[in-house]
Amino acid sequence: MSDTTDTAPASRPAEEPVLIAENLIAGYVPDVNILNGCSLTLYDGELVGIIGPNGAGKSTLIKAMFGLVSISEGQVRLRGKDITNLEGHELVSLGVGYVPQVRNIFPSLTIEENLEMGLYLRPSRWKERYAFVADLFPLLKDRAKQRAGSLSGGERQMVAMGRALMMDPEVLFLDEPSAGLSPANQDEVFRRIAEINDAGISIVMVEQNARICLQISDRGYVLDQGRNAYTGTGEDLLNDPKVIELYLGTLAKAM
Ligand SMILES: Nc1ncnc2c1ncn2[C@@H]1O[C@H](COP(=O)(O)OP(=O)(O)OP(=O)(O)O)[C@@H](O)[C@H]1O
Ligand SMILES: [Mg+2]
Repeated sequence: MSDTTDTAPASRPAEEPVLIAENLIAGYVPDVNILNGCSLTLYDGELVGIIGPNGAGKSTLIKAMFGLVSISEGQVRLRGKDITNLEGHELVSLGVGYVPQVRNIFPSLTIEENLEMGLYLRPSRWKERYAFVADLFPLLKDRAKQRAGSLSGGERQMVAMGRALMMDPEVLFLDEPSAGLSPANQDEVFRRIAEINDAGISIVMVEQNARICLQISDRGYVLDQGRNAYTGTGEDLLNDPKVIELYLGTLAKAM
């Protein structure tokens, strides 16, 4: 059953969430709220998916949690610590990584230089982090000297995720990782995301590709007009007639 409450999954009763966003009110300009009381909980090791129509506030929620959109009410906590409105570089130092929806690589730099940029706050860890990222994405090592701008969309997405992973985040925010990719590249990116999650990194992922997103997510949130519309396990949401009617079937109907 789906609802808008944020209770712990039955299998993880007393666990402290790694990240909590509570009743966020946020927007880009004063007095125009885009988030109207959004909440989200991420438990250790989870992959949480956010879906919803265009303009629902999905990217805004991620940006608000990453200090890029000002939160006027509500709170974000990372392992109990208040991180509301901290800046991106502070959040990165605290173990939060973010891969934006657009412009998420430096096209004129090589793959290796892109990864170096990801580690500018802690360059001494280069060897160890590069080994970790190259293990996940061998392509990034094999083609280290190639300019990132010359890569395909799927390969650029690997660079963007690799760069965010250089700082050894415990939480990763991904905004539309499959956007603009061919179906084969989308499958590959989703496989990589599952691998990153298997490596112990808790993930919040926004996706336009709602069905695949819910299939690989432990839990999902449907946002609509800056509010939580439905919350549940990925499977619950995929099978919820209301969610199917309102959010999963809409694309087919609109065509
Ligand atoms: N930089 C901005 N300045 C002002 N308003 C913005 C800005 N970015 C987004 N908005 C507005 O905020 C609302 C939510 O946008 P947001 O990008 O969060 O939606 P989304 O759910 O991510 O949509 P999409 O599926 O298209 O990516 C929209 O009405 C949008 O016009
Ligand atoms: Mg968006």
